[in-house]
Amino acid sequence: MVMFSKELLDHYKNLSKERISDLYTKDKNRFKNLSIKAAGLILDFSKNLITNETIDLLCDLAKDSGVKEKTAALFCGKKINITENRSVLHTALRDLNPEKNLIIDNVDITTLVNNSLKKIGEYVEKIHASNFTDIVNIGIGGSDLGPNMVVEALKPYINKNLKFHFVSNVDSTNIAETIKNLNPKTTLFIVASKTFTTQETLCNAETARDWLFENIPHITKKDITKDHFIAVTANPERASQFGILENNIYPFWDFVGGRFSLWSAIGLVIAIAIGMDNFYELLAGAHEMDQHFYETPYPKNLPVILALLSIWNINFLKCTSEAVIPYDQYLNLFPAYLQQLAMESNGKSVNLDGKEINYKTAPITWGGVGTNGQHAYHQLLMQGTELIPVDFILPLTSHNPIGNHHLLLAANCFAQSEALMLGKSKNEVLEELLASGLNKEAAEKLAPHKVIAGNRPSNLILMEKLTPRTLGALIALYEHKTFVLGTIWNINSFDQWGVELGKKIGIKIADVLTNGQTPEGLTHGSAPTTHESTRNLIKLYWNAQATP
Ligand code: F6P
Repeated sequence: MVMFSKELLDHYKNLSKERISDLYTKDKNRFKNLSIKAAGLILDFSKNLITNETIDLLCDLAKDSGVKEKTAALFCGKKINITENRSVLHTALRDLNPEKNLIIDNVDITTLVNNSLKKIGEYVEKIHASNFTDIVNIGIGGSDLGPNMVVEALKPYINKNLKFHFVSNVDSTNIAETIKNLNPKTTLFIVASKTFTTQETLCNAETARDWLFENIPHITKKDITKDHFIAVTANPERASQFGILENNIYPFWDFVGGRFSLWSAIGLVIAIAIGMDNFYELLAGAHEMDQHFYETPYPKNLPVILALLSIWNINFLKCTSEAVIPYDQYLNLFPAYLQQLAMESNGKSVNLDGKEINYKTAPITWGGVGTNGQHAYHQLLMQGTELIPVDFILPLTSHNPIGNHHLLLAANCFAQSEALMLGKSKNEVLEELLASGLNKEAAEKLAPHKVIAGNRPSNLILMEKLTPRTLGALIALYEHKTFVLGTIWNINSFDQWGVELGKKIGIKIADVLTNGQTPEGLTHGSAPTTHESTRNLIKLYWNAQATP
């Protein structure tokens, strides 16, 4: 079990009776004490149920949990992904100094990374000078969410001569709607898959190949894969088997986890979209955050503090979900990206020794852009029975400075975090109702519905502007937060065995659907483990196919 010190537990007991707003009167420097500036980001974490003492005690927890040692192991390439015996080296993908000379298992990682970036750079130039009009990235999970989120977030920087599309879902609607208005002659497909075995990605890639074959007169299958297909993968053999030429395969490596891969060749679509200089800026922002994370004492260490606040909210205040609400339309895919990062990494219930754990790990991560959410789920944030900590994210200036849009956006963001903290007391509500002319009895009856408890925690993450550099830092911030959480919870944040079972059963059922056996036959036929409930669903599926 994670050992929370008696001091920390006692401290929580005392503090749980307090209101966050009162803590500002007790510490006049609270905002200053409980905010951090680093790598172009500002974190205001003063609106949490914490004091300086809480931070000291939580920092002790980080020390006692071996965060320092584990961080060193991460950066120097120790095989900390113990169930797959792999290093976890996304930080090396943005540490480009050739003098770094990181060697793992006799492989010069620094040179490998720099060479790969050089090859990507050459290709980006080639594409920018080509006749291509549309780039379609086919991938799923980490081979989609990160690149898609970044291309969306950095729209103001993208090459205006090209259009970018992302196909991830095996639902044919995704690819059909994407290609229906595209010109096959000027469309390039990037098949992004670490394993090159992912069912959805291969199915979409085959459909794309068929579409090109059917729609470009006289083209040969070989020319399709030569001229219109690029693969990004850690499994080049499989990509070759698909027919992609060696020259068109951009490799990355086992030591890059799928959800940490946007910095590698998986980011090829990003590099094409924003150009190489901006891609390097993205890497530089992340590297700046890496250095800050590695070097800074914990009380002023942004990722460590963000993780410790989560520990506090999840393991002490018993929160079961965390919301991330960017007040920036360009960041509208950020919550979806974060869901994979946080939940695929830390959705675990055994520790590193394989023993079942008896404390909460990753909560549900969810969210969406402000101000839209205010007219949807903020009601629950304000008055629901769940206590949900929120990370608000706000760039302080806009790429589209029109009228007072940005001012209103910022005002709403600040207002939401204030309202969550302050709430509205019964006395305030009664006063307001009586002043509006209601009699005492009617006011008393209505008041409980209008009371807002407040005392709900939130963080504010600010940056001057959303740029490749600040975005790089923001993503790296959450990567390291995820890692620190996993370290304190003593779990492996870098595998995802839970995904495998569903995949396997899916393949088996697809086989059944393809081979067309009757569901009854399956009880003692080729797939005896197919469950009775599934057999009934299969029948319904077949009936629907048979109906004209
Ligand atoms: O969903 C599981 C997963 O393995 C993710 O971890 C990964 O990002 C995604 O599938 C895609 O995998 P690949 O890049 O190998 O196609």
